[in-house]
Amino acid sequence: MSEATRRWWSGRVGYEVYLRSFADGNGDGVGDLLGLAERLEYLAWLGVDLLWITPCFPSPLADHGYDVADYRRVAEEYGGDAALARVLDEAHARDMRVLLDLVPNHTSSEHPWFRASRSSRSDPKRDWYLWRDSAPDGGPPNNWVSHFGGPAWTYDEATGQWWCHLFLPEQPDLNWANPEVAEAFEGLIADWLDRGVDGFRIDVAHALVKHPDLPDLPPAASPAEAAPGDLLSVFDRFEHVYDTNRPGVLEVYRRWRAVAEPRDGLLLGEVYLTDVATLAPYVVDQDGLHLAFWFAPLDVAWEASAVREVLAAGAGIAEGAVAWITSSHDVSRAATRLGGPHRALVLATLQHGLPGVPFLYQGEELGLADVVVDPSQAEDPIAVRAGAYHRSRDVCRTPLPWEPGPGLGFTSAERPWLPMGPRGEADTVAVQRDDPGSWLQRYRALVALRKAEPDLVDAPLAWIDDVADGVVAYRRGTLLVAANLGASGATVDVPGAVEVAFASDGGTVLEGRALALPSDAAAVVRLGP
Ligand code: NOJ
Repeated sequence: MSEATRRWWSGRVGYEVYLRSFADGNGDGVGDLLGLAERLEYLAWLGVDLLWITPCFPSPLADHGYDVADYRRVAEEYGGDAALARVLDEAHARDMRVLLDLVPNHTSSEHPWFRASRSSRSDPKRDWYLWRDSAPDGGPPNNWVSHFGGPAWTYDEATGQWWCHLFLPEQPDLNWANPEVAEAFEGLIADWLDRGVDGFRIDVAHALVKHPDLPDLPPAASPAEAAPGDLLSVFDRFEHVYDTNRPGVLEVYRRWRAVAEPRDGLLLGEVYLTDVATLAPYVVDQDGLHLAFWFAPLDVAWEASAVREVLAAGAGIAEGAVAWITSSHDVSRAATRLGGPHRALVLATLQHGLPGVPFLYQGEELGLADVVVDPSQAEDPIAVRAGAYHRSRDVCRTPLPWEPGPGLGFTSAERPWLPMGPRGEADTVAVQRDDPGSWLQRYRALVALRKAEPDLVDAPLAWIDDVADGVVAYRRGTLLVAANLGASGATVDVPGAVEVAFASDGGTVLEGRALALPSDAAAVVRLGP
């Protein structure tokens, strides 16, 4: 990485704070910014220094904050503007940077913009959203479907037209062809950066712009097998060529970049496109987004060649322009998905050695698995509305266990907003902090290594082909990263090895010029000059 491409986020380690479940500072059972402020000491100790806070704006919570009713202030439920100012001050004092979650594809149906838009066909805000007449048969204007099941259109009796929503009806899509919408968001970005925020994670960043004629979507070439009654799988039965990834979206980010650059703000896109050629235009050429999450590793099979392929593809998109994750508030936790916390740490180790910015999702550092949430306590609209309990995102959103005792230190309320589930003392931050062999201590060591070694940020990436079956390995300057995904132990030749700088598993040892890696273990080895 050259001086020209290195920025303040290069070399940082990110951390997703799922705010509602991070720490409850006011005792109402819901995580908030006071709780986060009080736990910044922990995050600093862990070593992460780029926080992404999920939406903290006023919201009717149809989609837990991804339905924003006011972009300009912080919800009282999370502590209001003063609490965010405190988080920013105290994070900055610890050299941590803070990203807010910006939701530009849709607003809440309770946002004053939509209320006005809905009030009459002649309202000046009417064209801020996507309104259309019925199809000739009286049904929805086209065949688009919502990510959350059902048609992407809801009929408004009062004005006799349908509004478009790629998610819930309570999340109407904005009309990005209207220059006033673009101006409004440019103003918001400037204001928040001027208020001390360091950048944004941008929700559904690939979907803002739609084809102007809103044509029917063609059927998918090879649709996945749908489970009976799975409303959500309908989304996968179409080729999303007119509702997402339209060329005009890049122009939106070019303009945002012009607002962010003078303020040194970071634009990190949730660009959910898992094909390299489609994702690359969002981050190449230094005039769109600075970073985009690379989501393909979330679907990878536990098999060395598949893992190498998906990591190499992401690393090749653009120099340092990819943000890596193994987990998030939208998918099953890696420890569950991959078959154990040891595997989650192997994937995280491989990602922490690559160019780009690695992110942890809260609780990943504790080796946490999913919590099965009983349907009677479900919160996620995917479960509650679409009845797709098997796809519920509640499993990865349950509160963080902090310490032994009532509420496991998350809340003093009688009940947290989602159940703690069967978490025990051994899962807590406090217990793992005192245990040198804990998941927490291992993640902390990995983060520390990432931050201490400029080669993991700057040195050229060289994949190593001549390895045993099951092994994935690459070199970054004076460091070599290797993982064994095979079912039995493997050795990796490491000429010039000086020491094991990080091992995900205590059984990893250097035997002369060879690294002995147990099954499902990863290590970083320091090489001599
Ligand atoms: C992606 C967010 O991460 C997810 O939680 C949300 O439901 C959708 N975007 C809609 O905003």
